[in-house]
Amino acid sequence: MIVPLRYDADARVVHLLDQTELPVREVWLPLGTVDAMAEAIRSLRVRGAPAIGHAAAYGVLLALRGASDPKAAARDAIAALRTTRPTAVNLFWALDRMAEAVESGPDDADALHAHLKAEADRMFAEDQAAGIALGTHGLSLLQDGATVMTICHTGGVATSGYGTAIAPLLIAAERGLDLKAFACETRPLLQGARITAWELEKAGVDVTLITDSMAAFVMKQGRVDAVFVGADRIAANGDTANKIGTYGLAVLARAHGIPFYVSAPVSTVDPMTPTGDAIEIEERSAREITHGFGRQTAPETVNVYNPAFDVTPAALISAIVTERGIVRPPFEAGLRAVAG
Ligand code: MRU
Repeated sequence: MIVPLRYDADARVVHLLDQTELPVREVWLPLGTVDAMAEAIRSLRVRGAPAIGHAAAYGVLLALRGASDPKAAARDAIAALRTTRPTAVNLFWALDRMAEAVESGPDDADALHAHLKAEADRMFAEDQAAGIALGTHGLSLLQDGATVMTICHTGGVATSGYGTAIAPLLIAAERGLDLKAFACETRPLLQGARITAWELEKAGVDVTLITDSMAAFVMKQGRVDAVFVGADRIAANGDTANKIGTYGLAVLARAHGIPFYVSAPVSTVDPMTPTGDAIEIEERSAREITHGFGRQTAPETVNVYNPAFDVTPAALISAIVTERGIVRPPFEAGLRAVAG
């Protein structure tokens, strides 16, 4: 299992795997302040919806170091961490749980630290168990020998160990089954190439990397049995925000008669957001496109549009896999039943 972070409660430091260095180097950053954690989330040193939630939850603990009013410091940290990224609902879900723990917790600094750490640990453990269940449910949708196409990164470092969309592949590898994967590289930041391909190779899964624009051709060749993607926010009607490019894959899958599955823990379901139209889509810097990885690849002055996520309409989704079971369309009632 690959995890995105570890918390050292004695030193009051979060050790965070710097995802921007992958796959070339495994660098663990010691983060000791809320500001450092907020910067790490904003600059994608930690990314993936559940992982951002875990990072923020442990980030709240960092506010307690030397605080004269620990509860006030924790509340301020929660407010600051809420502003780091807008789309993945897991961030807000985790911070809401931390906020409840702050209010129900003791006033004494050490006792509050223990109380909040227990809540952050609980969420991490719940997510690990969810990953195993997501993998097991997802695997039930696949035959041995199947090939899955995926986009972005949805493994251990995006979550807490097993991941979401690639969890069936990881579980299959553990059971000695032969599932294969096409990983779309995921422009502009290449999470598919840099993280998914790295994680699947490490797990011994037969993975082939393609650029995003190759997906249609590979599907047309009959080489894909199912598409599995993760999610950053699932609206009450099943519309799903995920990494930019996901919607295109869903359209292509429908055109080629290939099932399209979303896999996510119930912490990604947002019953308060009625449809995908209400999901805020993060826009990121033009330089991610014009100067990817330090090299200028477009005119300096060109107009750029860089939405980091898109929304796949529920009508294109064959099923939503959660740790509490597989939800089939129409999604509204099923999602309410699992995530109420
Ligand atoms: O911008 P990122 O790298 O945080 O986006 C990540 C994704 O979109 C993932 O596909 C999603 O969070 C699913 S995570 C298990």
